[in-house]
Amino acid sequence: MSEWVNALKELRPKLKVQIHPEAENKNEIEFALAWSHPLGVFKEYPNLKVVSSMGAGVDHILRDPELPETITITKLEDPHLTRDMGIFVVALVLNHITNLTTYKQNEQEHLWKRKRYLTTDDVIVGIMGVGALGAHVATQLVKLGFQVNGWARTGKSIDDVQVFIGEAEFDAFLSEADILICLLPLTPETENILNRETLKKLPENAFVINVARGHHVVDEDLIEMIDNGHLSGASLDVFREEPLPADHPFWSHPKINITPHTASVTDPASAVFQVLENYDRLQKNEPLKNIVSPELGY
Ligand code: NDP
Ligand code: OXD
Repeated sequence: MSEWVNALKELRPKLKVQIHPEAENKNEIEFALAWSHPLGVFKEYPNLKVVSSMGAGVDHILRDPELPETITITKLEDPHLTRDMGIFVVALVLNHITNLTTYKQNEQEHLWKRKRYLTTDDVIVGIMGVGALGAHVATQLVKLGFQVNGWARTGKSIDDVQVFIGEAEFDAFLSEADILICLLPLTPETENILNRETLKKLPENAFVINVARGHHVVDEDLIEMIDNGHLSGASLDVFREEPLPADHPFWSHPKINITPHTASVTDPASAVFQVLENYDRLQKNEPLKNIVSPELGY
């Protein structure tokens, strides 16, 4: 929180910034920045007009059953967040095709054992969700020589990427995804989307990367599909419960890599510009940027 206050104060020394729950006069607050707020809290601010997520995801805001309908919600679309997601996902893809995790495990046993690596010719990468983050990841992978497919709700054009659209083209998309990357927002439509039925539709030996939200994945189904040999493994950065509970079977699974929700972390010093731009737009009654559709949930 202090990083956000510092970033705001650095650019606008006179801006009045108040922190919940210590805000002196809740009637004054029109614009809030939020991340996993205590549910129901926005009702305490009768003049609140805009809630800006401190990240790209807004599921933590929309899950509030007492969210006042009058509030506009905005998400972040930040160049550093996008850049960092690109680097992280490329690292996971390269880690997978070069068998680095296997060698790290072999190292423990002083085991010198070559395993045939995969090349960019051997795999098709499929990205679920080609919005701000997914489209950038797609472009980075194309630059490295990968064949990349995307899947989105609506049509879009990304150089050298075939984008499959909606439910009608979902199975065709899955059937080609040797490396499946999830970069969807969490919505009622996308919750539990990676389950036994969908995972079965991936090619044999497919590898799953989830850097979106834990609730996209049905944990037991993922483990089952790895253990029955259909999938070669997974890299997971996000979980239904975070921190991932110490007794969760993902921790000890040899074919699952765990990272602690760190694929891309908001840098307030960078993201503050768009927050202030929207704040200024609100004051001038101008349309805000990066508005979330409450109906779509992203
Ligand atoms: P965007 O809103 O820009 O993009 C979302 C994409 O998902 C769009 O392409 C959209 O399709 C597609 N989509 C949404 N619903 C469906 C659906 N039902 N069927 C098919 N496609 C769908 O989101 P961002 O790229 O900014 O962020 C994606 C997510 O990444 C965030 O919501 C957050 O959960 C996660 N994230 C994780 C981080 C981490 O550190 N692990 C860091 C930052 C974000 P269309 O283009 O047609 O609208
Ligand atoms: C985000 C995140 O949504 O960090 O920005 O997960």
